[in-house]
Amino acid sequence: MKFVIGNWKMNGTRAILREMIERAANIQTENRVALCVPFTMLGEKSDIIAMGAQDISTHDRGAYTGEISGAMLAEAGAKYVIVGHSERRMYHDETNDIVRAKAARALESGLTPIICVGETADERRAGKTLEIITSGVRESVPENVSGDIIIAYEPRWAIGAGITPTADDIATAHRVIAETLSYMHLIGTPILYGASVNSKNVADIVAIENVDGVLVGGASLKPDEFIPIIENAK
Ligand code: 13P
Repeated sequence: MKFVIGNWKMNGTRAILREMIERAANIQTENRVALCVPFTMLGEKSDIIAMGAQDISTHDRGAYTGEISGAMLAEAGAKYVIVGHSERRMYHDETNDIVRAKAARALESGLTPIICVGETADERRAGKTLEIITSGVRESVPENVSGDIIIAYEPRWAIGAGITPTADDIATAHRVIAETLSYMHLIGTPILYGASVNSKNVADIVAIENVDGVLVGGASLKPDEFIPIIENAK
């Protein structure tokens, strides 16, 4: 079993989501599949595709115009929520401390947080990849993990770029994340790879040691790509 999770970002329509759900109903898979869609689409239902959100407030209620709480996401139909995606870190100045608070809120609401870590192009050039992902995991995972969590390794320079790190680089990053999680007594936490995954490279990527699945951006918006990704991830 692998995880195949899509991140629609601020894209997609309900019509595409319904087409995806219809086509997914006809496939045989042991994989755990989810789509993290815009908030307005969380109510769509599917036996194969669970729904996820892309952000959550650090607060549980109150005068925070525009924010959305974990309880609201759960009530709307979400099972998962992405926290600390590189675009939130980049455009909304989210730090590891904020991401940890969001992940804690998700757990309190019975949601599975998908906690993203990954290095920028500059950090990679400076040889800091492993340091960034280690501190990302240590500082973004809440102290008392009371439910399921997922880690996503997303090398920020490869997102939407049509390029991926080498298999060796992915293996090294995932090994270091697995070691960090083991040190934190979180052995067995799934670790997904994300950035430029498509129907052609997914089988090779999930074959890499310690890769428990994929977090897919652009290709998760196209049924002709995402359905084969679900089928090929094994
Ligand atoms: P792409 O698959 O479009 O590179 O995006 C990856 C991503 O950001 C998933 O969260």
